[in-house]
Amino acid sequence: MSRLVVISNRLADPRKSAAGGLAVALGDALARTGGLWFGWSGTVTPDGTPGEGALQTHQAGNVTLATVDLCQADHAAYYQGYANSVLWPVLHYRLDLADFSANYSEGYRRVNQMFARKLLPLLREDDVIWVHDYHLIPLAAELRALGCRQRIGFFLHVPVPPPLILAALPQHEWLMRSFFAYDLVGLQSEADVVHFTRYMVNEAQAQELGGQRLRAFNATLRVAAFPIGIDVQEFQRLGRAPDAVQTCEALRAEYSRRQLLLGIDRLDYSKGIPHRVRAFRQLLERYPENEHSATLVMIASPSRDDVHAYADLRQELEGLCGAINGDYGDLDWMPLRYIHRTVARKRVPGLCRAARVGLVTPLRDGMNLVAKEYVVAQEPEDPGVLVLSRFAGAAEQLKEALLVNPYDTQGMADAIQTALRMPLSERQWRHERLMERIQRQDVHWWRNSFLQALRDEAAPPVTAP
Ligand code: G6P
Repeated sequence: MSRLVVISNRLADPRKSAAGGLAVALGDALARTGGLWFGWSGTVTPDGTPGEGALQTHQAGNVTLATVDLCQADHAAYYQGYANSVLWPVLHYRLDLADFSANYSEGYRRVNQMFARKLLPLLREDDVIWVHDYHLIPLAAELRALGCRQRIGFFLHVPVPPPLILAALPQHEWLMRSFFAYDLVGLQSEADVVHFTRYMVNEAQAQELGGQRLRAFNATLRVAAFPIGIDVQEFQRLGRAPDAVQTCEALRAEYSRRQLLLGIDRLDYSKGIPHRVRAFRQLLERYPENEHSATLVMIASPSRDDVHAYADLRQELEGLCGAINGDYGDLDWMPLRYIHRTVARKRVPGLCRAARVGLVTPLRDGMNLVAKEYVVAQEPEDPGVLVLSRFAGAAEQLKEALLVNPYDTQGMADAIQTALRMPLSERQWRHERLMERIQRQDVHWWRNSFLQALRDEAAPPVTAP
């Protein structure tokens, strides 16, 4: 069996648990097969030469971790700049937040070239290479330019917006063309596949060959949806462990007379956190019976705080949360608990289990694995209700959640009220169906179906497109 080589900007970091779905999912996906995991070490060296970073390798069980440091200039242009101030907002439909002014794309390209140079000597002839996410779109083209012949697949964890939004990106032609150095591109949802295909056909004159294949720039590419899942058994095991059990019991004791609502996100503008707070406020206003009862616990882990838009969001949110507690709180009840810290992963199942309603209401999200974790954490005899944004990739699979439009404050307040009042038989019915789908398409299904599809592809091209 050939070795699996996974490349992602972020690797699992035990000190920063639950800060993002990608690293957790890749850790779970690699745990069974073993292989090589290559990416950024998480270290930024204050000085250093742009396009150069020290490579370290170490063994973690059956996985070899190979990481490179980034110097200050590369981190600023590649990670904070092009990846998170240009690509992230564009891919999440937020052209208004994209910073096209600085010349970040050079640094982005430079780091992708450096990753290719550092990775190449570590590769074996029969490796299967799997590149992840928007930080590394041009990596295969850079590897091919150095003579790499192995099969290379790419998975995008974030959404693909419609072609005209992509076309606003000043470097869209170069960036989108670089997808053709891959043999297979995996996306989260069917909607993403439609947008990607339409872009390639309209803007790059690609030919649709059938069988999900596109031909352009002298190369053929297969593109398909592979919705990412979670490691259900591992999460259930975590849910039975003492940390989760204690977390759940402590919350249940504290909120015994109250109904707990829960949101867990990175503090990111794509997650619709202020919209959720407004809907919660509306719930208290329209349905006063929830006063002194419904309590929203909102955990927003710090993320990318040196990027402007994130700092602005933090300020806005603190104002909204302060106002709701000031206006509605009482000596014996605070409607909202806002926690701007990362919660240890081992406590997450307990938190979810104690919550009557899980609020996953992003404005846009590639998938959102918290939605799946919330469902899996529930007790089948008395499950809580998932309120899910129709704009999360997960909504294509989790149709038995209460689907909401996060821009519709009143509609969302009504849905939360429905969730709080839902009879047991309906909660059980929905939960059973959601569980069935989450179990069937778990993280192992995701990894196996993507890698099988990649292995099935014809031999890769000799030259880069
Ligand atoms: C999202 C992205 C991942 C990223 C994660 C955490 O899930 O798709 O690529 O790793 O957010 O963000 P960070 O910037 O801390 O890696």
